[in-house]
Amino acid sequence: MGTVILGTGSCLPEKRLSNHDLEKLVETSDEWILSRTGISTRRISGKGEEAFQLGTTAARKAMAMANVSVDEIDLIIVATMSSHMTMPSCACFIQKELGADNAFAYDVNAACSGFLFALDSGDKFLRVEQNKKILVIGTETLSSRTDWKDRNTCILFGDGAGAVVLEYKEEERGVVASNLFSDGTLWNLLYMHAASSSNPELEQPDNPGVHILMEGREVFKYAVKAMEAAINDLLIRENIEMDSIDLMIPHQANIRILKKLVSRLGINQEKVFINVQKYGNTSAASIPIALDEANREGRLKRGDLLLVCSFGGGFTWGASLLRW
Ligand code: COA
Repeated sequence: MGTVILGTGSCLPEKRLSNHDLEKLVETSDEWILSRTGISTRRISGKGEEAFQLGTTAARKAMAMANVSVDEIDLIIVATMSSHMTMPSCACFIQKELGADNAFAYDVNAACSGFLFALDSGDKFLRVEQNKKILVIGTETLSSRTDWKDRNTCILFGDGAGAVVLEYKEEERGVVASNLFSDGTLWNLLYMHAASSSNPELEQPDNPGVHILMEGREVFKYAVKAMEAAINDLLIRENIEMDSIDLMIPHQANIRILKKLVSRLGINQEKVFINVQKYGNTSAASIPIALDEANREGRLKRGDLLLVCSFGGGFTWGASLLRW
């Protein structure tokens, strides 16, 4: 018995921004970006491609695959940190677009770990409310939260959305277990201010605007160690050997982080799904986009053991195991 993924969907903006395009914006080169990050292009939203609109399209595709109608959806959880409004939530906008009148909806912000955290919340919800169906969506327009003059960060991020439909089934598959963590003491290694405060007492004089700021090297070190520990811990707890994993879908942050993680875990590289070269780091959307691509490419068969892991601002990180 478990929380099963009935369908997956994703949506990427039309516009591609290549490393050569970035050479015209900041002092950088295709060679530097490719060798440091593995990223070649990323997608950038245009008009009509806000986070809720990308998320809505991804959700429709996931529902079509799941053969689930919008009236059957009871809950919509959206992982994002780049919705066009702080209130209402991105989830409420998606609910409105879908016409999901029977669903309640809310957002989760766990930065790049958002989808994993939202998936865990969805799993826990369905274990209690077992006859319901829910949408879990990761959607981001980080292009609207990027300082396009900062070469340290603007090369890394991209826009996109991915979604899954979940249902609790009396079958020996679904979410096996999750192992999630946060450490707020390390907030200042990867962060983004809110809009400046209208209360002078709370105004932060060093607020540079709503942009992602990062200590890249520190993030790199923590990301590898934290995901490695979360995964090993989870496998030991569940008594599962690394060799039993059929597919690993990590958060697509950076090829060097992924290569280091893969070599430390000792997992066969061919079992690791990577698409960071095409989309860059799409934060909370990266895992559900990759999951949808892997699924549609036929990389997942019934009974396969899937490992997903993530790391992001907060810091937040973790790993989950799913039986497909
Ligand atoms: N193009 C050219 N040079 C650049 C550059 C760019 N886009 N960005 C930084 N540089 C320069 C730096 O200014 C620095 O120059 P200096 O030595 O003259 O000061 C030099 O390149 C090396 O910078 P450094 O930050 O040490 O590079 P790095 O090898 O650590 O790579 C990252 C930088 C950001 C790619 C790397 O630290 C990283 O991947 N970190 C993790 C980021 C991440 O994934 N964050 C999200 C997690 S969810």
